[in-house]
Amino acid sequence: MLNQTESNNNITYENLKKEMNLSNFPDYMLHLIENNGFDLITIIDLYGRMEYISKSVERILGYGKEQLTGKYAWRYILPEDQDYLKNYFNLEQRNAQKYYLHIRNQIGKYIIFETVLFTVEWPDGKKRILAIARDISDKKQAEEMLIRSEKMSIAGQLAAGIAHEIRNPLTSLKGFVQLLQAGISSKEEYYKIMIDEIEKINTMTSELLFISKPMTDEKKEENVQEMLNDVITLLKTQANLYNIDLNFQMDDNTEVYCDKSQVKQVFINLIKNAIEEMSDGGEIIIKLERNHSWCIVSIIDQGPGIPKHVIHKLKEPFFTTKKNGTGLGLMISNQIIENHHGHLNIQSEEGEGSTFSIYLPIHSS
Ligand SMILES: Nc1ncnc2c1ncn2[C@@H]1O[C@H](COP(=O)(O)OP(=O)(O)OP(=O)(O)O)[C@@H](O)[C@H]1O
Ligand SMILES: [Mg+2]
Repeated sequence: MLNQTESNNNITYENLKKEMNLSNFPDYMLHLIENNGFDLITIIDLYGRMEYISKSVERILGYGKEQLTGKYAWRYILPEDQDYLKNYFNLEQRNAQKYYLHIRNQIGKYIIFETVLFTVEWPDGKKRILAIARDISDKKQAEEMLIRSEKMSIAGQLAAGIAHEIRNPLTSLKGFVQLLQAGISSKEEYYKIMIDEIEKINTMTSELLFISKPMTDEKKEENVQEMLNDVITLLKTQANLYNIDLNFQMDDNTEVYCDKSQVKQVFINLIKNAIEEMSDGGEIIIKLERNHSWCIVSIIDQGPGIPKHVIHKLKEPFFTTKKNGTGLGLMISNQIIENHHGHLNIQSEEGEGSTFSIYLPIHSS
């Protein structure tokens, strides 16, 4: 290990200047950045060709620097992310634009990168794109673990309410079986009611099983109304315990490109929060709307509302005002929504209630 003086001797600006003449100082700095930086830096022309790529690519993705220079960047990006970029990247925007992109490494595995893109005007008058990308696989893995464990915890919390709710149809089934045993006449009528009751139990248990499954990441076009109906069936059991009505209103149904299980987890978290704030009962409105390219799902409660000075804290981890809360529900929900390129909007009026609105993009193609 270097001692303090040695290391200082090595890295002071004065020493560097002494060793090099000033004209090649920038080259030397570039060399240091290229060899030691954690980021992948590339300059891409408007056709998508990589004119420059930092040497760090050798360490990060395993390709040789020469191997990639002049190649089309598209070829290394996951097709789904390519579509997203084509839809959303704006060449005219001057500010940085941030994307999560899966990039293929030399052995064919896709790695997730947080990528910042800038459009830069070059001295030759041409526009080029500067991309700075950082491997965030570790962060993603930790995030997924958190989502998974939170999901299991919701399943556990809902299980009690569901078991309670299943008891009612079971009791009536038992009653009908006893009637049949006693030899009553209008059997057909009873059979129909019994099948309906069995169907109720079936829906509730399959929904509970669905959310207890490990976290998935299988995105496809999903019908939002169906997802909401499933979640409402599940949470009605919880709402009934507190005399709360779940009122579903729909202006326009739509499909959204998403992982069904993750988005349901968000709906459950937000409706569960609303239920938990309304201990005196009342009504929660769940509204589905469509506005240009957004699908908007709003959860509107009649709870106590949220003081203005804490609204910005809600999405932070571990912020909770509940005795048994973890304070992770909203943070995870927000993360899931952002992973789907959407956003979560919170509005609240103290004494009147709160509205949590989930915005998810609708693909026009
Ligand atoms: N609909 C709401 N009305 C009023 N306050 C809310 C509402 N939803 C959330 N909050 C506030 O935000 C805090 C954080 O919510 P979050 O869902 O992240 O965690 P939690 O509900 O406390 O715990 P957990 O979700 O683990 O059960 C809550 O403790 C509550 O103070
Ligand atoms: Mg919560």
